[in-house]
Amino acid sequence: MSEKLAIEGGISLEGELSVQGSKNSALPILAAAAVTGGSSIIKKCPKLTDVDAAVRILEYLGCKAARTGDTLIVDSSGMCRSDIPKKLMHEMRSSIVFLGAILARFGNAVVSTPGGCEIGLRPIDIHLSALEALGAEITELHGRLYCSCRDGLRGTKITLSFPSVGATENIMLAAVTAKGTTTIINAAREPEIIDLASFLNGCGARISGSGEGTITIDGVQKLDNYEHTVIPDRIVASTYMAAAAVTGGRLKLDNVVVEHLYPVLSAYEKAGCLITPSHGSLEIKAPRRLGGIGAVRTMPYPGFPTDSQAAAMVMASLARGTSVIIENIFENRFKHVGELVRMGAKIMVENIVAVVEGVERLHGVEVEASDLRGGAALVLAGLAAEGETTVGGVHHIDRGCQSFENNLRLLGAKIKRS
Ligand code: UD1
Repeated sequence: MSEKLAIEGGISLEGELSVQGSKNSALPILAAAAVTGGSSIIKKCPKLTDVDAAVRILEYLGCKAARTGDTLIVDSSGMCRSDIPKKLMHEMRSSIVFLGAILARFGNAVVSTPGGCEIGLRPIDIHLSALEALGAEITELHGRLYCSCRDGLRGTKITLSFPSVGATENIMLAAVTAKGTTTIINAAREPEIIDLASFLNGCGARISGSGEGTITIDGVQKLDNYEHTVIPDRIVASTYMAAAAVTGGRLKLDNVVVEHLYPVLSAYEKAGCLITPSHGSLEIKAPRRLGGIGAVRTMPYPGFPTDSQAAAMVMASLARGTSVIIENIFENRFKHVGELVRMGAKIMVENIVAVVEGVERLHGVEVEASDLRGGAALVLAGLAAEGETTVGGVHHIDRGCQSFENNLRLLGAKIKRS
């Protein structure tokens, strides 16, 4: 049975925390480690169940992985398999980035379609058509994808119909050792894309334009060993900021890239939080009662991140006045709404729009997390609520937040796992 978090709400959080390395950077970098055929030292690699799932895939493929503290060392010299069993693929949706990596290494791969998930259908059509453009022949049979490229992958111009983060990563991984030049037009611009490029370039790849709409990859023959530090997790940073905001607290966050947080800062400031950024850290001081966050639209970077939407909704739920949240990225990302309403929030959802009328207080009840970010948001709501909140489905939160309740406890929260 899944574990639960019991939270005694109503305590202002105060203190200082160092933010973990980014999950969404670490996962494609682990796939990239498989392409190198050598040894990769990955520092600030967060301890998460999603990272464990990626390590299980690497080990299945024949790679070795060893962790010491926050550092993970991957040796892919012994990689000998090009298939991933369905069970391992289904442990984590983003395992699809291993497809580009395995194709780059061996020229063929057999993986499973990841299928839908809690937050939406999440098709992979953009990934597959891009890999086909690079020369892969892909056949789907009973949910398995059989991919091969008889003459090796060849660079080409690929225009994405949407700046998909995962598809951009898959193309980068596949193209890095392809013959010739690959150009990705309408590429995702997320900081995690820049981090993947900086890891690959450190290994000897020739990628330019990451973080911009057009990325150019000049294929190289081989990659080398490299030591890389994963960027700070901007989503986790925004979650802790929201924890301070909804409890009227004050928090200093270390290991942040302030620029990566620009897309969320204006909403926090609009709510009345005082934010003082400095190099590599940031302080947030919440007002006694939050103001509304106005209208927030989730968008690809540098727009407001869909992964911070649920935390922002908890802020809006407790704010003075009405806020509007429009979810443009995933079609099923309001699953936390029903649980917040049971805690006393006033939220109305119509398709992709949530209208949130702030209330003075939420009250503790038993709620159930059904996805990672929505689950973390329910914990935030519990921290602010009167009485005790129990959040079930904690395994969703463990996918992406390292030592979540321990960190919150360091800030004064009364929270325990059972
Ligand atoms: C990544 C992040 C996730 C974040 C999301 C959007 C990781 C491990 N996960 O997910 O936390 O919420 O970016 O910032 O980095 N789509 C298609 N066809 C495709 C690919 C995507 O229709 O082939 C759609 C998706 O269903 C979704 C939208 O495009 O509606 C965005 O998806 P994408 O950017 O690919 O997100 P992920 O890489 O899955």
